[in-house]
Amino acid sequence: NFSGLTDQFGRRISYLRLSVTDRCDLRCTYCMSEKMSFLPKSEVLSETELFTVARAFVARGVHKIRITGGEPLVRKDIMSLFERLSTLRAMGLDELTLTTNATLLDRYASQLYDCGVRRVNISLDSINPQTFRTISRRDQLGTVMKGILAAQQAGLSVKLNMVVMKGRNDLEVPELVQWAHSRGIEVTLIEVMPMGETGESRFDQYVPLTDIRDRLEEIWTLEDEIPRDALGGPARYVRIRETGGRLGFITPLTNNFCAGCNRVRVTCTGRIYMCLGQEDHVDLRAALRSSDDPFEALNLALDKAMLRKPEGHDFEIGRGQREEAVARHMSVTGG
Ligand code: GTP
Ligand code: 5AD
Ligand code: SF4
Repeated sequence: NFSGLTDQFGRRISYLRLSVTDRCDLRCTYCMSEKMSFLPKSEVLSETELFTVARAFVARGVHKIRITGGEPLVRKDIMSLFERLSTLRAMGLDELTLTTNATLLDRYASQLYDCGVRRVNISLDSINPQTFRTISRRDQLGTVMKGILAAQQAGLSVKLNMVVMKGRNDLEVPELVQWAHSRGIEVTLIEVMPMGETGESRFDQYVPLTDIRDRLEEIWTLEDEIPRDALGGPARYVRIRETGGRLGFITPLTNNFCAGCNRVRVTCTGRIYMCLGQEDHVDLRAALRSSDDPFEALNLALDKAMLRKPEGHDFEIGRGQREEAVARHMSVTGG
């Protein structure tokens, strides 16, 4: 009989981010290089293996699962995986959700709703076709817009993630926020994290969100909301009086939030990473594939992993500094 998941610093792990593929149909310049090599299928966990991993976490007290990628919806069996995951509610799973680029949401939004998904986080860095194409290296804004509309029509509440980059989309923040808030959509701004080689300089990309906040305060009134500790997530939220909408700030560089960390990540190859910004991991796939009793073996691996969760990351971006804090791409651990 196994207990809840707690690390050496007394942090309870209640949230699993489960990546189901390393593939994606976009090539965002903060996340991937144009020429990515993807994993062969044999390396990637099967639907049943992913389900077993998720079940083991829920049995240990995890009550929120976010499916990530790469882009999770490019996986062919994604809907049957969601159907199976939705049965974990009976074991105590409260929230099942995903982070997506929305190119395939038009096709899947109502099926996701039927699996109990109620909120989706959508990565959208610009509402201008030209900027969208420059950042994502693909001309897909129209498809994404259709996806967002489909999500709302299916009854899903939508939150947008915008990675703010110098000279790319930093001047478009007010426009995107205004657009989203007028449609009942929340926005979260994110500081670029130095993960994986993408063919662009991180120093050139990086803008501290403290600067963006200052600029927004020249045009709007920002009212601080519930401290993020109460929510256990990385974002700090404000309400904008003029738009009535909520805006989040995720600031791994200017104000790290590791002390309240409640999450771990599992990659599509079954590695558990205890911290987004560190390379240390434990291989769950070996436990899954080599043992007669995968469930028992998984639980022992989880105990081992918990002892190794570090206090936090050490992301830094500066001129002349080592470019990437970790060599793996964001698409491996799903953000
Ligand atoms: P909510 O459920 O809406 O709170 O979502 P979330 O912020 O946990 O998930 P989402 O996938 O929207 O994450 C947004 C981005 O926040 C991620 O892609 C990361 O860039 C960043 N992020 C999320 N969790 C962490 C974390 O533990 N550490 C760091 N450094 N960044 C994180
Ligand atoms: N820094 C910050 N955010 C990133 N994302 C992907 N790569 C990076 C990075 N290097 C974001 C995406 C998506 C989320 C899952 O991660 O925009 O919203
Ligand atoms: Fe958690 Fe690591 Fe992210 Fe900090 S950097 S919030 S410890 S995953």
